[in-house]
Amino acid sequence: MKQDVTKVGKVNLADAFSTISEAWSPRIAGDINDMQVKIAKFKGQFDWHHHEIEDELFLVIKGKLRMGLRDKCAAPLAERAVDLDEGEMIIVPHGVEHRPESLSDECHILMLEPASTLNTGTVQSERTISDPMRL
Ligand code: NI
Repeated sequence: MKQDVTKVGKVNLADAFSTISEAWSPRIAGDINDMQVKIAKFKGQFDWHHHEIEDELFLVIKGKLRMGLRDKCAAPLAERAVDLDEGEMIIVPHGVEHRPESLSDECHILMLEPASTLNTGTVQSERTISDPMRL
């Protein structure tokens, strides 16, 4: 099958982030089979949520990120936080409750996750973005 090499291009992350003004509004930066690369600016604290089947990778491009983690089935509730600097990443397995929080003025985050992943997980709220825009 003939491949169209003109469709293969690069993404400049700094340029991409400069087009995003609002926080917690992921943009699709690319597709990898059934996965998507998304980028988003984080500001303040997001909501606790989990994903039934999707694992999520978060890579800090700029700023400082705190990932709150908890196991709601554990008694007493087991909660911890992992702090990440630029160039660090974390993979949150499906089922694990998590709450991203920016420890800097804002964070620039790259995410890798299945295309089916909803930003608020199993929770529907005013922060749910069911159909993220592409860059
Ligand atoms: Ni999540």
